[in-house]
Amino acid sequence: MQAIFCDQFGPLDTLRLGEAETPTPGPGEALIRVRAAGVNFPDGLVIQGLYQAKPPLPFIPGMEFCGDVVAYGDGASAPAIGQRVMGSSARFGAYAEYICVPAATLIPLPDTLPDEEAANLLCAHGTAHHALKQRAKLAAGETVLVLGAAGGTGLAAVQVAKAMGATVIAAASTAEKCALAAANGADHVINYATEDLKTRARELSGGGVDVVYDPVGGDAFDTSCRVMARGGRLLVIGFASGRIPQFPTNLALVKEFSVVGVFWGSFVRHEPAVAAANFAELIGWYAEGRVKVSVEQTYPLADTVAALEHVMGRQVQGKVAITFGDAG
Ligand SMILES: NC(=O)c1ccc[n+]([C@@H]2O[C@H](COP(=O)([O-])OP(=O)(O)OC[C@H]3O[C@@H](n4cnc5c(N)ncnc54)[C@H](OP(=O)(O)O)[C@@H]3O)[C@@H](O)[C@H]2O)c1
Repeated sequence: MQAIFCDQFGPLDTLRLGEAETPTPGPGEALIRVRAAGVNFPDGLVIQGLYQAKPPLPFIPGMEFCGDVVAYGDGASAPAIGQRVMGSSARFGAYAEYICVPAATLIPLPDTLPDEEAANLLCAHGTAHHALKQRAKLAAGETVLVLGAAGGTGLAAVQVAKAMGATVIAAASTAEKCALAAANGADHVINYATEDLKTRARELSGGGVDVVYDPVGGDAFDTSCRVMARGGRLLVIGFASGRIPQFPTNLALVKEFSVVGVFWGSFVRHEPAVAAANFAELIGWYAEGRVKVSVEQTYPLADTVAALEHVMGRQVQGKVAITFGDAG
């Protein structure tokens, strides 16, 4: 099979398109012929050796996919052979024509969910959903400020917060990104390249926001600490800006707000039943049109580097996918 290989941690353009044996499913595993793979910011971090987990080298990147079940290992018998499924791969292996994963982790797909959208639903929307539901315990009527709101997980957070009945303030760095967030349901937008985030967020929320969803870190996090309502929850999602911020604990004391960590992969591993219930709710929301995956562009496997550079280079609006010719 063809796959993308990371031979050593480093720049994205050191990735290599190569051939490998099609993997054989182990006990409890299913072999999937991949139709599409989602492209996520953490994929780029893993390749550069900047992620919290470092796989043994060489490895195939890619953490989520949509594909067809084609074979089982011992002890696995579902989903049915030929069933189209989506899944995540414990962080690696999806940028390949075939992947083996535990069969029990696969989610059968309705026909209405296209391959490139299904391949991008788990990580971005799963993170936003878990963050807002289990970590922030968001209540209907609360105000949520979403940073990086046109990025993969930011745009998902805009939709999920709306589906949960919140008022959403979306913040992004260009007029085009702000327009995308508004088209995805945001009640208010702030262009934080041209407007003062602190002033506008306080104005729009009537004094302070209940929940901040922060995949950006850096200066945006520093400002967010100063727009929290009493009892607020500041969700630490990621550091796309490249700077892991320091937290001034005096601000938490004064406003009685909490900084809450979110790690979707850990959640899925430690609480599989709750994660499965979340996914069922997400798919229901998708069917009702309350969430959607906005796929800006698809790339063939050979152009994986370009896809990753688009995401890591602050260009992406929504999501991009790797698609596999005759499988998709
Ligand atoms: N905690 C978890 O479980 C979890 C799960 C998924 C992702 N994440 C993390 O969340 C972060 C965002 O992931 P994503 O998939 O949403 O990425 P993305 O689609 O690339 O979006 C990131 C957003 O961050 C903003 N940004 C600000 N400075 C940036 C810079 N120097 N380079 C790139 N983007 C910059 C951009 O919005 P503006 O241009 O509008 O500022 C961009 O849209 C990453 O750090 C990722 O590792 C964490």
